[in-house]
Amino acid sequence: MVIQPSNTPLLEWAGDSLAIGLFEDAVELTGELATLNEKFGGILKELIAEEEFTGKANSTISTRLAAGSQVRKVILVGLGKPDALKLDNIRRAVAAVARVAKKQKSKTLGFSFPLWNNDPAATAQAMAEGVQLALYQDNRFKSEPEDKGLQIESVDFLGFDGQEAALNRANQIVSGVILARQLVAAPANAVTPITLAETAQAIAKDHGLQLEILEREDCEKLGMGAFLGVAQASDLPPKFIHLTYKPTGTPKKKLAIIGKGLTFDSGGLNIKGAGSGIETMKIDMGGAAATLGAAKAIAQLQPEEVEVHFISAATENMISGHAMHPGDILKASNGKTIEVNNTDAEGRLTLADALVFADKLGLDAIVDLATLTGANVIALGDDIAGLFTPDDAVASQLEKAAEIAGEKIWRMPMEEKYFEGLKSGIADMKNTGPRPGGAITAALFLKQFVKDTAWAHLDIAGPVWTDKENGYNGAGATGYGVRTLVNWVLSSQ
Ligand code: BES
Ligand code: MN
Ligand code: ZN
Repeated sequence: MVIQPSNTPLLEWAGDSLAIGLFEDAVELTGELATLNEKFGGILKELIAEEEFTGKANSTISTRLAAGSQVRKVILVGLGKPDALKLDNIRRAVAAVARVAKKQKSKTLGFSFPLWNNDPAATAQAMAEGVQLALYQDNRFKSEPEDKGLQIESVDFLGFDGQEAALNRANQIVSGVILARQLVAAPANAVTPITLAETAQAIAKDHGLQLEILEREDCEKLGMGAFLGVAQASDLPPKFIHLTYKPTGTPKKKLAIIGKGLTFDSGGLNIKGAGSGIETMKIDMGGAAATLGAAKAIAQLQPEEVEVHFISAATENMISGHAMHPGDILKASNGKTIEVNNTDAEGRLTLADALVFADKLGLDAIVDLATLTGANVIALGDDIAGLFTPDDAVASQLEKAAEIAGEKIWRMPMEEKYFEGLKSGIADMKNTGPRPGGAITAALFLKQFVKDTAWAHLDIAGPVWTDKENGYNGAGATGYGVRTLVNWVLSSQ
């Protein structure tokens, strides 16, 4: 599928489906649209009246034009109220159109959309993201592709002449989101610590990043007892992945992105029971997927003044005769001891050593993303990630980055008093506190492993996956986090 800016005037565009974005309560056609309506024999006006189209966000109506017309179908899409227009409304509206056009078996699709914030570059980028993210279909595990037959071949953004750079940016970012979706959607017998490391290697090779993989012995030397405790029951070797993007110029900022990389979470000996969603626990590397997706995007975008470290302590949480016993005491690489009162709170153990590693790199900020707790899903639901940080500046950077991305985050309290729930009689701390406030105690646990660097944690257990189609996300893996991370890195220069 080719997406291109076009300087063809709206009245002259010819193709299968022509999509027109209209604001709520402003669906009377004026100017060029009035002329287009006349040209189409008044069909646009009739369509709006007949279907009682009001321009409600993401609502679509469509009709066929006469055989032999320059346009086969016209699609009207609502954008909501003009003063409430967000970049993400553009993505969602474009996605709604793309799905309709696909059903219409259109090969060519034209868009006539208003500008968001008078910003043609941001608008074109969001439109290109929306189309591609909505039309992406994962056929890797089907013997026959589900959507064979006609595909949209070319997409024209009318009036967006000169926005090639914005479209190129969108493609680079989308390639990172798709990678993250593919990694999350693939089952645990396809995405393993080994293949995650191979994926990191492919990114390094294709896009010129530095790569360091720490094997089990390397991790032992660094004293990563928390990470290795989790890894010890798996038949697969753990891989500690460290990719680095170095800009051509001298970096003004040095950042790290850390992703929880549990390619499967059985719970360990505190095994996940029936109804716990154990069969969905391939998604437990969603943080690592977002990290690698962001690496792929950043490596192509090549920001000039920021260095970024992409890190994941990848393993599985399994059971075997050499599994951690509930109650075992582990020592993390900062010397702190942890009583593992629940082997299913494994993500924080792997992150502990990853955070210590990143903290020693002398960076300006660290963000970790993790499918860390069911408690966060209970608190914020499926669509919203929890943001935990003691640092107001990083919090507001991430909130802005997420807002532009249309990825929802909500700041949660780091209530220090709740650390009492992690007090251990025998070690420095337990890995699991009481059920109430479980996402908060998880964040407080992580905080013990960051000493010198500004740090934020995103609990993405909810939004990595969607059971139903939602905006530009099809049912399944969303690639959540990649676009927020990219925006955060680009805004940090
Ligand atoms: N990977 C899970 C969290 C999770 C739950 C991710 C649902 C995605 C969807 C994590 O390792 C876990 O098992 N957390 C436990 C922690 C508890 C033992 C303190 C949980 O949330 O129940
Ligand atoms: Mn677990
Ligand atoms: Zn887990």
